[in-house]
Amino acid sequence: MVSLMKFLSVITIINIHHFALAFLHPTSHPVINFPNPDLHHWQSTMLMLINPFNVPPHGEFRDDHNNRNHYQQLSSYSLASKLNVLHDSGVIEHTHPIEVVGHRGSLYTALENTSRSFLHAVEAGADSVELDVFLLKCGNLVVFHGSGGDERPGLLHLYCGIDGSILDYTAEEAKRTLTFNKSYDEFGCGPTQITHPDDLATESLGQEPIPHYCYVHTLEEVLTTLRDHPKVPPTLSIKIELKGEGTAFPAVQLVEKLNMMHRCHYSSFDHSRIAEVRELSPGALTGALFADDVPDDFIQRAIAVGASEIHLGMTHAHTRGYKPRTKAGLGTMAWFRGPVGMKEDATSKYHDVGNEDECMYEVVIRTGVRSMCVNRPGVLAKLAEKMQRRINWESAFYLNEEKKSEELSA
Ligand SMILES: *[C@@H]1O[C@H](CO)[C@@H](O)[C@H](O)[C@H]1NC(C)=O
Ligand SMILES: *[C@@H]1O[C@H](CO)[C@@H](O)[C@H](O)[C@H]1NC(C)=O
Repeated sequence: MVSLMKFLSVITIINIHHFALAFLHPTSHPVINFPNPDLHHWQSTMLMLINPFNVPPHGEFRDDHNNRNHYQQLSSYSLASKLNVLHDSGVIEHTHPIEVVGHRGSLYTALENTSRSFLHAVEAGADSVELDVFLLKCGNLVVFHGSGGDERPGLLHLYCGIDGSILDYTAEEAKRTLTFNKSYDEFGCGPTQITHPDDLATESLGQEPIPHYCYVHTLEEVLTTLRDHPKVPPTLSIKIELKGEGTAFPAVQLVEKLNMMHRCHYSSFDHSRIAEVRELSPGALTGALFADDVPDDFIQRAIAVGASEIHLGMTHAHTRGYKPRTKAGLGTMAWFRGPVGMKEDATSKYHDVGNEDECMYEVVIRTGVRSMCVNRPGVLAKLAEKMQRRINWESAFYLNEEKKSEELSA
């Protein structure tokens, strides 16, 4: 007993400066110093010791309704424990290349879903960008979503400050008349990045004027930009999420017209659209998206519609484990929520990571996922580059060792 108390007091002193903040101010999260593997392990373990109720039972995080409130109160303050990667060896065990996907482009630096936002993601080092498309009555696909569920989608109120739905417009009308709500908090880029057509003259005084770019883009405009812009490498892929009814056919048709078949991937929460894409374009890469209620047979479902990848919410990476999916020959992607959702998660749920900092990304990488659709592509790209250097270093090292032993035996 005495030695146990001694042990506890020693580790508490060691870690108290890291964790005191978290408990006193639930909104500030001490960031675990990941590059130091031992520390990470220690600190995560400490989190469990100090506050064991925060740690959900490994491997079976339950999400059922009866337990939800109760569970949320006790819910993990540690993303690493939620994803069940606490006990991975300190170094990133799953050293593999990570595909960096810019969610809606680079939404913290430019208004999401605009050409500028996608170009920013490219500049930040993303391998891919992700966007949603909607079909308008004029037959054009636009890169826009709006609010509202499947019943009444594309609502403009929060986004553009007017009633109605994007579906009431033609692409031309939408581009010409809709402007974006500068104070909508889902726009991570903040009001200064949101331009209106008549802002320039008044607001640019004394500041660098931003050319007006915040309008509803068509898919064709975005794809053409990404195909032809000198700064965009030909390896950049575009993940097109088929959002509304009737989007599969025109999307495939447009991609073929622009000769970008090898660069465009399709995904959808509605898996019948994936089956449709497979029929229209058998070689296309496709992703079966799953929302928060991941069914038990999700792998079979993805295989049944011919998906080549499975896309799960970031916090579901652990429950089912990415490893069996990779074994089934499927690619894997973790998607992150928008800025409001992520901020909420990082302040109220996970205190071992910041809001999409390197540390959060590293925890997710430990699940073995191959591709990550994130709001801060620049941060993930830097981390992925570091991992790549390590992979290169290791393979050079082993090659060298092999050579040595060959020389010895010769
Ligand atoms: C941008 O796309 C996302 C989906 O990727 C969507 O949720 C959001 O509403 C879109 N924003 C705008 C301004 O179109
Ligand atoms: C703009 O967004 C804010 C924040 O979501 C909202 O409160 C406000 O009503 C919106 N503005 C308009 C004109 O709709």
